[in-house]
Amino acid sequence: MATTDLIDLAVETSKNAYVPYSHFPIGAVLVAKDGRLFTGVNVENASFGLTNCGERTAIFKAVSEGALEFEELIVYGQTEKPISPCGACRQVMAEFFDKDLKVTLVAKDKSTVVMTVGELLPYSFTDLK
Ligand code: THU
Repeated sequence: MATTDLIDLAVETSKNAYVPYSHFPIGAVLVAKDGRLFTGVNVENASFGLTNCGERTAIFKAVSEGALEFEELIVYGQTEKPISPCGACRQVMAEFFDKDLKVTLVAKDKSTVVMTVGELLPYSFTDLK
């Protein structure tokens, strides 16, 4: 799927966000190497710390469906500048993605910044060695 279509899908996906507390919907689309698409939204909770971000929802959906090899990730948020993923999501990306995996960050006007996982989380902790 072309990047513009993936961005449109991320925007559409964000409409499913469960955000009664922040009113800040996020939509993520994770493309697996086998062609499958995994979407994710942020899912909030009255106990705020239990909130799961859109990026992690997409990654956890993919892993639980047996996908472990990925092509790219698109993340949309209603921000002025392209959305900046939180530290927890960057750490989860580092667990499952190659350092050179392409992450397209999208703002509310659909402007983008493209970064790699290595750029998002340099010198990351990835294993116990
Ligand atoms: N959030 C995401 O889902 N992804 C991001 O990249 C940034 C923040 C969510 C968490 C919470 O539901 C809301 O946005 C406000 O922080």
